[in-house]
Amino acid sequence: MNIVFFLSAFLFFIGANSSQFPIDEATVAEIQHAFSQNKLTSRELLDHYLNKIDFLNPVLKSVLEVNPDARAQAEAADRERELAGGKALGELHGIPVLLKDSIGTKDRLNTTAGSFALLGSVVPRDAKVVHRLRNAGAVILGKTSLTEWYGSRSMKIPHGWCARGGQALNPYGKGGDPCGSSSGSAISVAANMAAVSLGTETDGSILCPADYNSVVGIKPTVGLTSRAGVIPISPRQDTIGPICRTVSDAVYVLDAIVGFDPMDSEATKVGSQFIPSGGYKQFLKRDGLTGKRLGIVRHPFSDLYANESTAIQSFEHHVKLLRKSGATIVDNLQISNVAAILNPYESGELVAMIAEFKLTINDYLKNLIQSPVRSLADIIAFNNNHPELENMKEYGQDAFLLSEQTEGIGEAEKAAISMMENLSRHGFEEMMKTYNLDAMVTLGTGAETVLAIGGYPAISVPAGYEGNGEPFGILFSGLKGTEPKLIEIAYAYEQATMVRRPPPLLSDLSSL
Ligand SMILES: *[C@@H]1O[C@H](CO)[C@@H](O)[C@H](O)[C@H]1NC(C)=O
Ligand SMILES: *[C@@H]1O[C@H](CO)[C@@H](O)[C@H](O)[C@H]1NC(C)=O
Ligand SMILES: *[C@@H]1O[C@H](CO)[C@@H](O)[C@H](O)[C@H]1NC(C)=O
Repeated sequence: MNIVFFLSAFLFFIGANSSQFPIDEATVAEIQHAFSQNKLTSRELLDHYLNKIDFLNPVLKSVLEVNPDARAQAEAADRERELAGGKALGELHGIPVLLKDSIGTKDRLNTTAGSFALLGSVVPRDAKVVHRLRNAGAVILGKTSLTEWYGSRSMKIPHGWCARGGQALNPYGKGGDPCGSSSGSAISVAANMAAVSLGTETDGSILCPADYNSVVGIKPTVGLTSRAGVIPISPRQDTIGPICRTVSDAVYVLDAIVGFDPMDSEATKVGSQFIPSGGYKQFLKRDGLTGKRLGIVRHPFSDLYANESTAIQSFEHHVKLLRKSGATIVDNLQISNVAAILNPYESGELVAMIAEFKLTINDYLKNLIQSPVRSLADIIAFNNNHPELENMKEYGQDAFLLSEQTEGIGEAEKAAISMMENLSRHGFEEMMKTYNLDAMVTLGTGAETVLAIGGYPAISVPAGYEGNGEPFGILFSGLKGTEPKLIEIAYAYEQATMVRRPPPLLSDLSSL
């Protein structure tokens, strides 16, 4: 073992042992309990995560920036707690949160979607979801890596790669593939580098990294959370949601970030009507599966796994458990036209999205206080002018070029959008209604596009590991606004199985 490695392992121990409370894998509720018992301070919690980031990030590359003001925020939270004299200040008070690097913060952190083209840009204000997190007392720990520009630059960009951070790695294996595009958020909470995190999803970008990195992802109904201040792709499909180690942690974050926002009024006006009074934590019920009707869809999502794999066997085991826990199982369902839905050329998703991206990114860039680039054309020129910085030779920017050629929402785009609406209505929606289902249950996150084109919500929960330690998840999805039911189902399932374990590679490291 070389001396540098030894020293960093040693420092890691100092960090890990500065309080009696075992921080790794602790839930937000356990952390709040430790705060209230004076067994832990926000400052100690934050320092633990900063040490973990120092130690692990050179390998995992999931964090792009650490907030220079995070210590002051943690200390302020500790003072507020002391002044409140033990009165509860809310679940997220004093809790360090990492944000995907596309979620705007008006502070010393940059907001860049992983690209050098946006380094030095100044946002007009915090994204609404960040504003809400700050109001809830959360500590903004830093920004996480992502597939650069959400993969909207080129299909050749690998999951979890961005110019600013390099290739982020899945700590469980899968050849390091963390899935995308919220790779850094999922890796960081999986490796206990933060308490909780936020990701964004247009088509799979929360659910797939959660699945690959053995954590919980909630993809909210489009419009439940405001997208204002977040680098956009498609207002039809974009949504902001939590990636955390447990369902309850994710629900606490969801409660903090949902709500109407005049800056994203059309979508959040509809979305906010779904928010139950008293919020979402009331649905964290151990008996949440009782009386639920669950539709099991295997084909074509289970086909992504080998017949003899643990994933396939575990899925059958989990379906039995769902039934034993009081759910009615409606088995072997199919979604009409699923092949067309999953094919972005056939469904219209690609045609609509490349036009929407140009419109919305240009709008985002125009509203920045300061920026090296003011339009998609500027970004394309920036990449051409900085080919090495942006690894243009290997990855290019084909998708950007296609997008730049579009001219708004014309006949072709309108037809594409109607096509997706029709596919959703006669596909997922019809299946859910015909069988009167509370949720669809699928293995892995292959169903993400079904949910993406319709704006539907879903929760991915860890479901097991292959013999080589590679994780897989189970997905519970439903019609718009059905988060209360999905939370009941996902939480009851999680509590009955408790599958998640921290990455083995990292427990090996910390036992050195
Ligand atoms: C933001 O980017 C600038 C470079 O433009 C850098 O100097 C600064 O340290 C970055 N902020 C953080 C918090 O890393
Ligand atoms: C899995 O089994 C089915 C029939 O049970 C078969 O049609 C299919 O080819 C098998 N797939 C693989 C990858 O072996
Ligand atoms: C909508 O989908 C249904 C079922 O696939 C089909 O019969 C109908 O022609 C479609 N309508 C339009 C306008 O595309």
